[in-house]
Amino acid sequence: MAEFTLPKNSVVTKGREFPAPDNATHTRRFEVYRWAPEAGENPRVDVFHLDMEDCGPMVLDAIIKIKNEIDSSLTFRRSCREGVCGSCAMNINGRNSLACTKAVADYTGSIKIFPLPHLQVVKDLVPDMTHFYAQYASIKPWLEAQTPAPADSERLQSHADRAKLDGLYDCVLCACCSTSCPSYWWNSERYLGPAVLLQAYRWLVDSRDENSGERLDDLEDPFKLYRCHTIMNCTDTCPKDLNPAKAIAEIKKLLVQRQHG
Ligand code: SF4
Ligand code: SF4
Ligand code: FES
Repeated sequence: MAEFTLPKNSVVTKGREFPAPDNATHTRRFEVYRWAPEAGENPRVDVFHLDMEDCGPMVLDAIIKIKNEIDSSLTFRRSCREGVCGSCAMNINGRNSLACTKAVADYTGSIKIFPLPHLQVVKDLVPDMTHFYAQYASIKPWLEAQTPAPADSERLQSHADRAKLDGLYDCVLCACCSTSCPSYWWNSERYLGPAVLLQAYRWLVDSRDENSGERLDDLEDPFKLYRCHTIMNCTDTCPKDLNPAKAIAEIKKLLVQRQHG
């Protein structure tokens, strides 16, 4: 399991505490990381006691309730509320997860909510994903083919070729895996990390893509790929039950096959 690590620039102090309403019968305690860089203060942890009889079941519901009813300045990303956009990724009780897919009832005691670890924090639960997205763009996450598409149809795949993309196309680019990977923590400037490498593999095995040679050339690098030491935090953490460590191993295998082929 991914160990909890504070985000960069964190000396966290005790923050404010908001009690539950007097008539609450089923309360839960939420500890939420707060930091607004423009305020010039240290990050703090605010404590919110919520009445769960008057709140949706998921951790994201609790965060939305806090924002709507207690502190509108609480800042976080979310969009789909059903685990497909990847934007509500955060660290919940020490584990990177999608807040909209995690039920409050599945946690005991106080629930600690922090931003994804080892990324700069923009505000509260919002990490800076600029570098992550630049790394994603660097692997050219689009189809590259010199052969023109058929005039009267899409570029078709056999069922077997299409099946090779299962477990890859479903990645929602939440970065839970990359930000739980110790190699990525220490080498993120040059190591692409599990999320981006899983995406790289997704294009390498797409039967319609004709650029695998160049894609492999780009990945054959001591830092971009070979910083993975098979620690497996990534696969353990992925909220979509994907296996980025296996995808990385498959890329390494393709490189070995090319050397011997
Ligand atoms: S298996 Fe590789 S990518 Fe996954 S956590 Fe370990 S070092 Fe990182
Ligand atoms: S592999 Fe899983 S954890 Fe990593 S970015 Fe994709 S969905 Fe998120
Ligand atoms: S809001 Fe889209 S994955 Fe949680």
